[in-house]
Amino acid sequence: MKIKYLGHSAFNIISEEGLNILIDPFISNNPSCTVPVEQLKPDIILVTHAHADHFGDTLEIAHNSGATIITTHELATFCEKQGFNSIGINIGGSIVIEDLIEVKMVNALHSSGIDFMEDLEEGGIATGFIITLENGKKIYHAGDTGLFGDMKTVIGDIYKPDISLIPIGDRFTMGIEDAAVAAKWLQSRIIIPMHYNTFPGIEQDVELFAKYVEDESIGTMTVPLLPGEEYTEE
Ligand code: NI
Ligand code: MN
Repeated sequence: MKIKYLGHSAFNIISEEGLNILIDPFISNNPSCTVPVEQLKPDIILVTHAHADHFGDTLEIAHNSGATIITTHELATFCEKQGFNSIGINIGGSIVIEDLIEVKMVNALHSSGIDFMEDLEEGGIATGFIITLENGKKIYHAGDTGLFGDMKTVIGDIYKPDISLIPIGDRFTMGIEDAAVAAKWLQSRIIIPMHYNTFPGIEQDVELFAKYVEDESIGTMTVPLLPGEEYTEE
């Protein structure tokens, strides 16, 4: 399995069987993204919430690739109305993709107005995803979120993600102190920080975050990726 960081909260995961999963594809307006939109050919696109720095180029990429969009019921309806193939799910619900991979929607503590429309429209709620791969490994993408207790009691204790992608940028999401608590609660082997250093206002010292995690969480390693870099494991 390969997890490629595209900057901000955008990731491209390629599973063992070759399923191509794109998450929160904020690409063309993302100052940290080095990959052109045309290069992305996902099978599925997961969108955590409606904000422009997450929904991003979803429609263009879905148009180019024929990918199915998986998101909240409200956002999926919005995409469907424009002729896109989309599947709406909701918190606690899951869906199995091509008999290979399960995608479960989980809570996030954030908002989800459709901010790229002329009038701000309702966009459902903000969410996170837990992706269970063919080999049973679980990847948690937290979306945009503040620290919330279910990260421990539901996501950490029950779902037990192996790898967690969590925001650390502060201002719109958790900052590094809260994200270090989240890392402790999640008990993942690997933490990949996201949603920082993309634009002014969310600059963070990722090395300091990694030190907090090292101090507070035994058995958890922080893997900071630069945009364009990949994390790979069997
Ligand atoms: Ni947001
Ligand atoms: Mn965001």
